[in-house]
Amino acid sequence: MKIFIDTANLDMIREIDGWGVLDGVTTNPSLIAKENTDVRTRVKEIAGIVDVPISAEAMAPDAPGMIREGRELASIHENINVKLPMCVEALKAVKVLSGEGIDVNMTLIFTPQQALLAAKAGARYVSPFIGRLDDIGADGTEALGQVLAVLSNYGFETEVIAASIRGPMHVFEAAAMGCDIATIPYNVLQQMVSHPKTDEGIQNFIKDYEKSKKT
Ligand code: G3P
Repeated sequence: MKIFIDTANLDMIREIDGWGVLDGVTTNPSLIAKENTDVRTRVKEIAGIVDVPISAEAMAPDAPGMIREGRELASIHENINVKLPMCVEALKAVKVLSGEGIDVNMTLIFTPQQALLAAKAGARYVSPFIGRLDDIGADGTEALGQVLAVLSNYGFETEVIAASIRGPMHVFEAAAMGCDIATIPYNVLQQMVSHPKTDEGIQNFIKDYEKSKKT
């Protein structure tokens, strides 16, 4: 499974790239706002530090606007793909943008039917939101499984990005189902590294190493 980081924070991106596990970056307007910057400036900066796909969200309300904004965002750097929120206007825009060779990440996907439409229209990525379904008492993992099951019946090149990840269990569940990509917040990536028995084992090895040096 490819690992994307779900952030617009440059230090976090640098750090995870340094771990040797980074396959991509996803941003959204909320993540960009947290960094007190704008999408164009920030995705250009990200493209300057890592050589991986980067999602930048277009916010126009209609297809002509999404197409214009999508072209503009994609022209910033060859690694930039355009994130569009699932709706009729976005489907129309995906058809045009993908026809021009611009990758689209269809976001805010909650059902396999939405994913099917996005894939048919030509989306390069679809992003089912697992955590936000769990938030309302639904089963985000089950929805992700349904998206994967439907798309795998056909020959789509669309890759599924497990998004709105809230913890290591979401990552495990996505990987166990063979999801193509998970976009993971920085804190969850850190949680994935640790295990109390690993930490305890390291401390014991350090203690015994120090003891053995003295003998
Ligand atoms: O970037 C899209 C998605 O991963 C956002 O997640 O935590 O805001 O539901 P969240």
